[in-house]
Amino acid sequence: MTNDEIIKRTAEFIEGEFKGESTGHDWWHIYRVWKDSVSIGAKENVDMFLVEMSALLHDLSDFKFNEEKEGQNKVVAFLASLGLDDEIIKRITLIIEDISFKGAEVDAKTRSEEAKVVQDADRLDAIGAMGIARAFAYGGKVGRPLYDPDVRATMHKSFEDYKKHGNSSTINHFYEKLLLLKNKMNTKTGKELAQQRHEFMEIFLDRFYKEWEGKA
Ligand code: ADP
Ligand code: NI
Repeated sequence: MTNDEIIKRTAEFIEGEFKGESTGHDWWHIYRVWKDSVSIGAKENVDMFLVEMSALLHDLSDFKFNEEKEGQNKVVAFLASLGLDDEIIKRITLIIEDISFKGAEVDAKTRSEEAKVVQDADRLDAIGAMGIARAFAYGGKVGRPLYDPDVRATMHKSFEDYKKHGNSSTINHFYEKLLLLKNKMNTKTGKELAQQRHEFMEIFLDRFYKEWEGKA
């Protein structure tokens, strides 16, 4: 198989796996991360095959859906079934391990240029108009209020802490994660796109508070 055929097969496999997921981690999230990865990666010195494959597979090993090991085994088994060699498989799983958000004050180091690109793309989909839509979809799914003026946001110091999150509101999630992402972007293109999306969220929040108080 050519690399393009492998990418196509992977996209089909992932589309099948994620069909029906509606928390914001559906196939279309992966599709957007894939497309964003391609536009960001085009301006970086990266192996685009690794970038595209990791973007497509990045949520298979997400902690919320699989125990991390189980997710990884699934990735490895799938890649091996495509006939990819161990070295490539190892590089793809390292990229995927690097990219997930682990809490406001947890330092997430990336070990490759490819991981920086895919991480930026994944972060972009959590901010801007898309990020707002996903946050409220997720909040609704886990039964959170849109906003509660009496509950303050928390800066999570550990991954454990972030995973637990408590009874926060979706608006708090903006302060706990979404508004922090702009300063965590790795690439120049990622930073530029994040800046625009960040400004859009600020406009949204400003109007949200005004409308909450009947002032707009
Ligand atoms: P990803 O794996 O895409 O980086 P996550 O798994 O952390 O993102 O979350 C999926 C989506 O749900 C993201 O858009 C994220 O911002 C949103 N989300 C995660 N936790 C919360 C929360 N506590 N409240 C609202 N939205 C959330
Ligand atoms: Ni993702």
